[in-house]
Amino acid sequence: MSAQHQYQMSETEEALALGTGPLPAGPYYRDDYFALECEAIFKRTWLNIGHGCELPEPGSFIVRQFDFANASILITRDNDGNLGAFHNVCTHRGTQLTQEACGKRASFTCPYHGWTFNSNGDLRGAPDLERFYVEKKELGLNRVSVAVCAGLIFVNLDPSPRQSLREYLGVLGEQLETQPVASATTYSEYVYEIDGNWKITYDNFQENYHLRFIHARSGGGGAVGPENQFGYPEKYGFHGEHRTQKIWTNPAPQLSATQKLAFGKLVPALMQRGMMNAAHARDYYALFPNFFLIGTPTQHFTHYVMPISARKSRGVIRIYWVGDDMNASERFGREFSMAMARDVHAEDRAVIEAGQRGLNSGALKHIHLQSQEVLLRHLMHHVDAKVKAYQAELAAGGAQQ
Ligand code: FES
Ligand SMILES: [Fe+2]
Repeated sequence: MSAQHQYQMSETEEALALGTGPLPAGPYYRDDYFALECEAIFKRTWLNIGHGCELPEPGSFIVRQFDFANASILITRDNDGNLGAFHNVCTHRGTQLTQEACGKRASFTCPYHGWTFNSNGDLRGAPDLERFYVEKKELGLNRVSVAVCAGLIFVNLDPSPRQSLREYLGVLGEQLETQPVASATTYSEYVYEIDGNWKITYDNFQENYHLRFIHARSGGGGAVGPENQFGYPEKYGFHGEHRTQKIWTNPAPQLSATQKLAFGKLVPALMQRGMMNAAHARDYYALFPNFFLIGTPTQHFTHYVMPISARKSRGVIRIYWVGDDMNASERFGREFSMAMARDVHAEDRAVIEAGQRGLNSGALKHIHLQSQEVLLRHLMHHVDAKVKAYQAELAAGGAQQ
């Protein structure tokens, strides 16, 4: 048991600066706090919504719902190959332009009166346009901001963000570019809705404390073992609002016969194609506010949690791949990886929702975090700092709605 202590986090200055006291419970369920988070964070922060491989050619488009802002955002690749992001809202009288989730088209025609927009957002034409009292060039779709790092597409609902995506990501931007996800050409996806606050849901994936209890059956993803029963990470990193950890790997994981079969074929194939980078296996990047990416020996995995309300969220889990599967064994390995991710997540779901129900009762004024839960503390610290800064802006009359 004493061997576990070598994996205790070294309490760096940054971790200590976050304090050790209990955290108020209200921000994890209260509607008023959630409304502030939407304004202070989600409506003005870079949010991952997908990957460039989903828009492979001019005319490709995807649509994403941002429930917290009642927004539907259309992301397009125009004829010059550039990405654009627009409100999916006709500038005539506001009708949503498309109900499709993705596709390919050279233009978008509003179903109501037939206004047609190019994939760069310009109004191409409108029936009987000369009877309007406004210039055609003023009627393009309303833009939001879009940028790419490591192939990952980020949208910012603020059309004039305070920081570019690269400024926002800081040193982590360059590090992400070295990850295999940067060259991904396809992915497997699992989308779920959950009765959980976005932080309660996300925090479940920021600590290994629960692994030995909730994931005993699935083996804790190889992050726990006899010499590290609580799955202490090897190290933590703090990078402004973002955070990293290096997850410990069990050198002798207990694999089932099916796991051995699936991964025994998959790992060499991934290694050969440079898709698995052993040096980055188990690197965990948590980008503020709601995204993380993790490299594991068999998967390249991303997960974001979009808020729907104070107590409801939508999560998107993806495993990214480079190239098509080459043979039946690789196909099986890929499908098995996604099925395993789904199984592990199913183990998490019940405790996340039970945790939310408990908090909703208001029985707790505070929650308590131990040293391994420092990433949760770091997230809440920065959420609250943004909320307080926004409140100060409001008080000074400067915040824009
Ligand atoms: S609302 Fe779109 S054309 Fe009228
Ligand atoms: Fe879990």
